[in-house]
Amino acid sequence: MSSLASSIFSAPELPEAGGQDFQRAAELLRGRAGIVLGEHKREMAERALGMRAKSLGLPTVKEYLDHLEQNPLSTHWQAFINAFTINHTAFFREQHHFSIFADFAKKRGKPLSVWCCASSTGEEAYSIAMTLRESCPAPGSGIHILATDIDTQAIERAREGVYSLERVDPVPLELLRKYFQRGAGPRAGMVRVKPVLRNMIEFGVVNLLSADWPSGQKFDAIFCRNTMIYFDKDTQSRILARFATILKPGGLLFAGHSENFTYLTKAFRLQGQTVYVAT
Ligand SMILES: C[S@@+](CC[C@H](N)C(=O)[O-])C[C@H]1O[C@@H](n2cnc3c(N)ncnc32)[C@H](O)[C@@H]1O
Repeated sequence: MSSLASSIFSAPELPEAGGQDFQRAAELLRGRAGIVLGEHKREMAERALGMRAKSLGLPTVKEYLDHLEQNPLSTHWQAFINAFTINHTAFFREQHHFSIFADFAKKRGKPLSVWCCASSTGEEAYSIAMTLRESCPAPGSGIHILATDIDTQAIERAREGVYSLERVDPVPLELLRKYFQRGAGPRAGMVRVKPVLRNMIEFGVVNLLSADWPSGQKFDAIFCRNTMIYFDKDTQSRILARFATILKPGGLLFAGHSENFTYLTKAFRLQGQTVYVAT
């Protein structure tokens, strides 16, 4: 028997998800993180739930969900959420936003405060930092970038700032040389963000649905891209209303390419190319 076959045959079975488990898990996820889990995700979700139940030594997915439901403060909630986030991102994703943002930052001047509120593994926040360093005079001071995400593992990777050479492919060579150092030995084929860039960013965990948003801070720009698409319209509206209260007058909200907020709020006006200005 090949080692693959033997590992398949000897793998202990995952607790199976039963009839109502998927729906129940989807409701828990939506209530806690806003993420809507479509029926097409059922197979993946049931497997993830089985793995979570197994890791806690629970014999069924039902018991795992019972545990979450009955213990709103359980530490196992975080791993449940992390299992369902989609962290797809890239450096300088939707490049046009960074040209618009560079012009905005030049005109606006310092101090400048930016919230990258679903920053996943950090590529977006570091792209913002590079854009600001390149477009603001004396960029070392007067700039504050807050990068947060609900997913603790993604934020940990963002904080580390270590990427494969493939991941940094969209970074222009000149910026790559300036802001990244090449790994050696066991880190060969990887790059690490230099402290000059990393130190511009404060990383943290924030759930956009929770009450504990960054308190007492107002921002010149908010990047919330490719995240609201996972929420229902009502959740999107509530989050937009809260963004409106923490954006400074004339501040910009950057949305993802397939996100359209025009019909959801009067607090923002579309300025073009999925960039909204606070009214
Ligand atoms: C597809 S990624 C987008 C990353 C980045 N903004 C971009 O456009 O490249 C969506 C991110 O939203 C995060 N997310 C999902 N629900 C969230 C919530 N309720 N609060 C904060 N972040 C959330 C996920 O963890 C994930 O990292």
